[in-house]
Amino acid sequence: MFLLGIDIGSSSVKVALVNAETGLCQASAFYPKQEAPIISQKTGWAEQDPEQWWNYLKEALAEALVLSEINKNDITAIGISYQMHGLVLVDKKQRVLRPSIIWCDSRAVPYGQKAFTQIRDERCLAHLLNSPGNFTAAKLAWVKENEPDLYARIDKIMLPGDYIAMRLTGEICSTVSGLSEGIFWDFKNNCISEDVLHAFGFEKDKLPTIQPTFGDQGSVSAQAARELGLSKGTLVSYRAGDQPNNALSLNVFNPGEVAATAGTSGVVYGISDEVKFDTRSRINSFAHVNHTSSTTRIGVMLCINGTGILNSWMRKNVLPEMSYQAINELAATAPIGSGGVSVLPFGNGAERVLENKEIGCHINGVNFNVHGREHLARAAQEGIVFTFRYGMDIMQQVGITTNVIRAGKANMFLSPVFRQTLANVTGAVIELYDTDGAVGAAKGAGMGAGIYKNEKEAFASLKRLAIVEPNIKEVKSTREAYDLWLSRLNKLL
Ligand code: XUL
Repeated sequence: MFLLGIDIGSSSVKVALVNAETGLCQASAFYPKQEAPIISQKTGWAEQDPEQWWNYLKEALAEALVLSEINKNDITAIGISYQMHGLVLVDKKQRVLRPSIIWCDSRAVPYGQKAFTQIRDERCLAHLLNSPGNFTAAKLAWVKENEPDLYARIDKIMLPGDYIAMRLTGEICSTVSGLSEGIFWDFKNNCISEDVLHAFGFEKDKLPTIQPTFGDQGSVSAQAARELGLSKGTLVSYRAGDQPNNALSLNVFNPGEVAATAGTSGVVYGISDEVKFDTRSRINSFAHVNHTSSTTRIGVMLCINGTGILNSWMRKNVLPEMSYQAINELAATAPIGSGGVSVLPFGNGAERVLENKEIGCHINGVNFNVHGREHLARAAQEGIVFTFRYGMDIMQQVGITTNVIRAGKANMFLSPVFRQTLANVTGAVIELYDTDGAVGAAKGAGMGAGIYKNEKEAFASLKRLAIVEPNIKEVKSTREAYDLWLSRLNKLL
């Protein structure tokens, strides 16, 4: 018996085929092999074509099925993880009406801000836990005002994962966790927020129906089965945004537990059993995968848009021809603090941690006679880590302490400079695990299909690969480098 996990990322679509009995990944694949394009017609805009996600899924799944040598009939359930906060619009015939406005698109900031004031800040925070900010509802408000004819043709709005589920099953639905990440969910009244519908003037029937995060969310249609090489009727039994799903992959379900990722964006995600929020929405609170009306499980999240995307930009523009591994090795040859070079990694749209300011990326302190590529490589990685620290201080203020951070051994966590700097500057112990979002989504599918009775069973096979502890000898110099970085950021703010 196998479980299929699908992870719709912004740089690629990954799939994993997991053996349900052993919990081990039989095969995985991703597509495209180079980072997928993000269409940006104007500065601050970011769009992707949902049809492309589907095509990437076809390619990745075809490769994984060949590699795994398993029979499609042995796939019992499917789980979906997806890039969060994106807006997908379809008409009555389930045709996509425009490219998806994705998570790092900043155009909707003023729309979210206006609704925040209109609903009244305190009421908004108490009910929605966040300002509508730049999330899905605010993006829909942009469409309503700027593309009214198109808005009139919308039958349903959805998130990227809901779209993939629709393509798989023909059914349109979302989850409470999904609606909360779009800022449609009223946590106090446990329903879709009338305040948000009213403030933006949205019709409620444009929103999808709600299904549980774990459970029957439809089954693979004949057409999808043909297109993907799956069996008709295979159950879709789990979906979640990539960050709650990353936490699930790392067995992070309970208060006090903390997960992190450092892919295109970077996230630190702590679970709370109380409703917690930052009054300035610099960090965000959404429903975690196991949140219910009777058991509060909030994922309190710091998100930094400019994480791996900065490293990838460096590779394309500053360190061409180098592999990521070679860049990591190069970064390790520069001293802690990169000889006084600091990078502020804010070149991927409005940054929530900076109250949705879009200050761009800044490289400070370069001396032509002193610094070389190694300083830039290291300063980029340190700059990302320092932004983690900056945001984790805010998390601490709302009561999320991070003594231990769990992460998959992937993306930026493959870099020794990155992970050691993170341990040194935050004092946290970092545990690295052998998992990723696609494997997590497969495990989620197993939970949703009732194959695993509980988390303990689902994550019995989760393997810790390494522990990174703060290095006492490096803590002082790392914190001095952070102070310099912080003073440069504060000058700009
Ligand atoms: C999380 C966020 C990003 C995207 C990336 O709030 O916006 O991490 O989910 O896919």
